[in-house]
This record gives sequence, C-alpha cells and structure tokens, in this order.
Amino acid sequence: MILEEINRLKRVRNAVVLAHNYQLPEVQDIADFVGDSLELALKAQEVDADVVVMAGVRFMAEMVALLNPDKTVLHPSPDAGCPLADFLSKSVIEEYRREHPGAPLVVYVNSPLEAKALADYVVTSSSAVKVISKLDSDTILFGPDKNLADFVAEKTQKNVIPVPVSGHCPVHEFLISRYYVEKALREHPGYELVVHPETPRDVRRLANFVGSTSQMLRYIQETQADKILVGTEEGLVYRARKLAPGKDIVPVNPIAVCANMKKITPYNILKSLDRLEPRVTLDRALASRALEVVERSLELVK
Ligand code: 13P
Ligand code: SF4
Repeated sequence: MILEEINRLKRVRNAVVLAHNYQLPEVQDIADFVGDSLELALKAQEVDADVVVMAGVRFMAEMVALLNPDKTVLHPSPDAGCPLADFLSKSVIEEYRREHPGAPLVVYVNSPLEAKALADYVVTSSSAVKVISKLDSDTILFGPDKNLADFVAEKTQKNVIPVPVSGHCPVHEFLISRYYVEKALREHPGYELVVHPETPRDVRRLANFVGSTSQMLRYIQETQADKILVGTEEGLVYRARKLAPGKDIVPVNPIAVCANMKKITPYNILKSLDRLEPRVTLDRALASRALEVVERSLELVK
C-alpha cells in the first residue's frame, strides 16, 4: 500500500529517490538508485527528474541541492545530521588557516556547507586519495575526519594535517574499534575483512581492503573470498548480501548503527513526496562559493 502510493507519487511528481548505502533495507528497496556519497552527488545531476528525494544525512541532501539548483530537493528528515560534519566550524578553519598559511584546505564532503565554501577542494572517501595526490602542495590541511586524514597521508606520503586534531565519526571510531574487529576476527576465522577509511589506523592495519562504501561493495563482489567481515555501518551488509548473494557476509559489529541515517523511513518519504516538503534551501552566497569549490574538485576526479 505505502509502496504503491510512493510509486504513484514518484510518477505524478516526476521524482526519483536516491539512497545512501547505509539506509534501512526498506528504504534501499524503494530507491531508484543506491550509492556512496560521490555516486549520489553525480547521479543527482544525471537524472531527468523535477524532484529528488535524498534518503541520507543532511550534507548529502545539501550536495544534491548545490549541484541541482533547478530541481526541488526533498530531505524527509531535516534533523538527520552527521556528528562528524559538526567538527568543522568556521572558527576551527580560520585557526588552522592562520597557523598554516599557504597550505591548501581539503574538506571531506561530510562537512557543513560553510566549510565547503571556505575550502580549496571538497572530496569524498572515494576521491580523497586521487584529488590530494594531484595537488601541488606536500602539506595539506584536511578535515574533519582525522582517520581519513591519516589514511590519505599513508597513501599519498604527504603531510596531511587533520583539522581539527580530534574529528571522528562516532560509529567508526567507537563501534568499529580494534576491540570489535579483533573479536569478530577471532569468532570468524578465515574471513576477509573490509573496512571504511573512517576507521582508526589500528583497524585499517588488519583489513584486506579499505575503501568507500561502494568501493567496499565492489571489492566484496570481486574478491575470490566467499566469507567476509564488513567493518562499517551495518546498513552496508544488506546491500552487500543483495549484490553478492552466494557469499557469507557478516557485520563486524551489528550495533554499529548511524542513528541519523536511519531517520529516513518509507513513511516520511511518502509524506515528503505528497507535500513536497521539507525542501532543502541553501544560503545563496555560501552556495555559490561552495559550488565553485565542488566543481573544481570534481574536475580532478575525472
Ligand atoms: P561513503 O562516501 O563511503 O558512502 O561514506 C559516507 C559516510 O558517511 C561514511 O560514514
Ligand atoms: Fe556521519 Fe558517521 Fe553517520 Fe557517516 S556513519 S553519516 S560519518 S555519523
């Protein structure tokens, strides 16, 4: 019933639903496209639709709105933020800019719009290494995730300074910690381990593969291994099992849940499509500066 009504409204509104890989199974099943942060931003530009419903957290909905000023962008749960993004305030950026004049500031897409407007480049977990390796400078300011900063430093051999020093995703820092990973490996001998770069270094060291959510999904499908532990938010396991049905895919920690991602439900998607609310609106001055930075960054990803 609710699915039929969503499908009817999608047709009436000429709308598509884009969902992040961590969304609830029932939301992933409703979506026209499921992907990682970079794929979602690019997909929103490709789709021929008047309305885009973003099933993800706020910065994802803001990215869709930023790249699609002519589309109506709906975010069914505007209070679905990202605690990692909140580490990067204007004052933190100004402090590090003052201390490291001349170093480019690269900002993770998990950040507020204001931070993107103040940055030189914006990256996602799948583009960070590529973009930073192409920059002229050997010293890079990177925020807000200290673990992704460390991962990029290892991969590029550059001096990547975390902005701020303690920025982290609580799900990856505390619930995909070395404790949970070692426990899962002990309980699942012979399993391969894939993890997200937002995990701490001592976890990444134990992994067979480190990548964005969609890069992990590709690895899971392509590896010879048929028993895999997934070290990221638990929503990825549903998607992985769907894409690699013959494999035994187990979460490192089933309680590694991003509560904000789970605030999107079929019911609030239905309500959004019906009312064309809540819409994502962006501050025009910030959006125009942030768009320049994002477009410059996307050029380096091609
Ligand atoms: P991806 O870009 O890898 O999908 O990651 C988004 C995210 O929020 C990870 O916690
Ligand atoms: Fe933010 Fe972590 Fe949730 Fe990703 S999993 S949206 S980084 S809080």
